[in-house]
Amino acid sequence: MTVELTHDGNLAIVTIDNPPVNVTSQAVRAALLSRIETLERDPAVAAVVLRCAGRTFIAGADATEFDAPPQAPHLPDVIAAVEASDKPWIAALHGTVLGGGLEVAMGCHIRIAAPGTRLGLPEVTLGLIPGAGGTVRLPRLVPGDLALRMIAGGKPITAQDALSAGLIDAIAGDDLLQAALTRARKATGTVPTLSRPVRPFDAGALAGIGARLVAKARGQVSVAEAVEAVTQALTAPPEDALQAERARFLRLKSSPQCAALRHVFFAERRSLSDPRAKGTAREIAEVGVVGGGTMGAGIATACLRRGFQVRMVERDAATAEAGARRVREMVEESARREGQDAAAVAVTLDRFAAGTEYAALAQADLVIEAVFEEMAVKKAVFAELEAATRPDAILATNTSYLDIDELAATLDDPSRVIGLHFFSPAHVMKLLEIVLPDAVADTVAASAAAFAKRLGKIGVFAGVCEGFIGNRIMSAYRREAEYIVEDGAWPEEVDAAMRDFGFPIGIFEMQDMAGLDIGWAMRKRRAATRDPNERYVAIADRICEAGRLGRKAGAGWYDYVEGRPVPSETVRGMIAAERARQGRTADRPADIMRRLLDAMQAEARAVLADGTARRAEDIDVVMVNGYGFPRHRGGPMFLAGQP
Ligand code: NAI
Repeated sequence: MTVELTHDGNLAIVTIDNPPVNVTSQAVRAALLSRIETLERDPAVAAVVLRCAGRTFIAGADATEFDAPPQAPHLPDVIAAVEASDKPWIAALHGTVLGGGLEVAMGCHIRIAAPGTRLGLPEVTLGLIPGAGGTVRLPRLVPGDLALRMIAGGKPITAQDALSAGLIDAIAGDDLLQAALTRARKATGTVPTLSRPVRPFDAGALAGIGARLVAKARGQVSVAEAVEAVTQALTAPPEDALQAERARFLRLKSSPQCAALRHVFFAERRSLSDPRAKGTAREIAEVGVVGGGTMGAGIATACLRRGFQVRMVERDAATAEAGARRVREMVEESARREGQDAAAVAVTLDRFAAGTEYAALAQADLVIEAVFEEMAVKKAVFAELEAATRPDAILATNTSYLDIDELAATLDDPSRVIGLHFFSPAHVMKLLEIVLPDAVADTVAASAAAFAKRLGKIGVFAGVCEGFIGNRIMSAYRREAEYIVEDGAWPEEVDAAMRDFGFPIGIFEMQDMAGLDIGWAMRKRRAATRDPNERYVAIADRICEAGRLGRKAGAGWYDYVEGRPVPSETVRGMIAAERARQGRTADRPADIMRRLLDAMQAEARAVLADGTARRAEDIDVVMVNGYGFPRHRGGPMFLAGQP
């Protein structure tokens, strides 16, 4: 780590170099403070440019200091020293200017950013709020509603948006340092951010935005605290607001939610730091996708958007055209969301082709199969793939539950086969279970891990079993949810308990959304081999027999009125009949969420014990990113370890 001081005429340049992302560790804070003091005493220096070496300006705080008591000098004091300087400080920004990095930049008198810079205060996502004046300085630079959205929403903004909002003063051309130096030469009479009045704001509108963000956070307290901190910063004297902000920050820092969110944050970053990801990865440029339904189209879109060539193979011309249409729509929708134009869409779709011939996959480096969830269909597809692809091409299946060892065994070379279990919608959801059959080659596992990273996914290794990590745990708590209903709760009461806990959606609403037919087909297939001593709840079968196959059928566990789920009298009748048939008393269980968690955690422990998951934290990553387990509770395994 160095904080270097150089000179260009009467200008000073302070360069922070603390790889990889210039976090504000104690050593950086101390060195920076010492440079500030030196510069204050130097009459030859007229203005100072503050910049960072490497790929980014300060990208945040030093996570390794999180668990220890704060060490002096504290960041608020360093920033105050910059801001109090008589000499103008010009922050030269590039990369990701996040958290403490943006707070430092706001303490400077002028901010100039390289094109492509992103700026944000993402502390809420780690269960915190900014703790070094961010909530107080930001609303003095940008309109109150944007300040609130940035601080309580946690999403960074682009340099362009930062410029139009007033957060930065200019966007540099090619040479950031020269632009900053030029600006520094002209800098006079600059006003410290804290001495500026807050930008005009509409209190009513802000209250509305705050309420929406708090509702969306489903019990994550840092969001509510962020809303309160910004509200306070807009109305209280800055010194009071700064003190209150720091107190909130320190309180949140030692909160259980902050610990849970940090746990998930680091677990996500470690999920592929695994010996099995370390082998030599093969180059993947061209991806084949077999099946252009919900998943195949989403997978193709995910690949196209990350620069891969994609060839899709379907059953016949009509399904190929339908698959291609789905892909076009998904690519267009993703581009719209990211503000890309028609030309960008055309470039992306140029790399895509759909048809019915396996010969199109002759040059594919990786083929992902996403056809119907039936072993016989998948085996037939894999036989076609074995004949049509290069012998070193990786063959992946997106199966949800089927035995990948059995599928791999049908090939001459089973070491080519791996599971790539995407989540729906596959171009949006971040999770990817990488399922490793017994025979898989190290280089295939490593290639899949590298592929996950290139797709921008959070990859987690899993072993072969029915449902892998996530679906297996979900099956366990879905079963428990059905027990609870048969024991006396209505489906909507179970769903409400899950929402209150922080899930975005309850298990019954979710099944209606996914469709009840696949599970029904599976239950019918297994009926013959079911253990007669195991409790079996037949309510879902009755619902399916009545043609209520979920949202797409207009009815499932719920009725649907104008597309919204409402509790169903018909379903209540079916439930009552099943309860009576089973001789159950129908007292509403008081501890719905406890029972669901117990079921989830028991299965999670089994998943760990038999090696399906290698680390407890991998299970948390899967449940948080694939199944809506509230992130601020850290995942089922983290929660189980809490007092
Ligand atoms: P889907 O029914 O929407 O799509 C399946 C597609 O495969 C159809 O377009 C069909 O024409 C095509 N197909 C069937 N047989 C084929 C063959 N022999 N050759 C070429 N194409 C063929 O099904 P969905 O939902 O996309 O599921 C596909 C796979 O992904 C299944 O294994 C499923 O278990 C798995 N999966 C599904 C998830 C979901 O949420 N829907 C999530 C994760 C995995």
